[in-house]
Amino acid sequence: MKTILILAAAMALSATASAADPAAGREKAKACAVCHGENGVSQVPDFPKLAGQHRDYLARALNDYKSGARKNAIMAGQVANLKRGDIADLAAYYSSLQALTTKY
Ligand code: HEC
Repeated sequence: MKTILILAAAMALSATASAADPAAGREKAKACAVCHGENGVSQVPDFPKLAGQHRDYLARALNDYKSGARKNAIMAGQVANLKRGDIADLAAYYSSLQALTTKY
């Protein structure tokens, strides 16, 4: 029984990951652009650049704001109405963008 539950949970997790849709995330990201910039490149140091960050890091950050594990009053308000699938789509979108590179 326990094995079946773990298996079901693992399948649910992988289904969520594979269902993530960057194009849908792009639409949902319109609400984020005012702070995080067009294409996830913020022009203001207070707002992190999201372009090219790792997908699992982005999803983790958003889930942590939602659960309260990561505390920030601004972001708590932003994620309050996001569903699990929205977070997956947003993470897929921002991680698909070109990150900034530094020339040495
Ligand atoms: C009103 C401005 C504002 C809006 C709108 C906003 N954010 Fe943020 N976001 C912030 C600030 C400020 C931080 C830094 C918070 C902190 O220090 O934890 C942040 C942090 C983040 C982080 C963590 C980045 C990192 O490098 O750890 C993610 C991911 C994120 N935002 C995603 C989003 C998404 C997705 C949306 C749209 C649904 C959104 N934000 C909308 C202001 C905003």
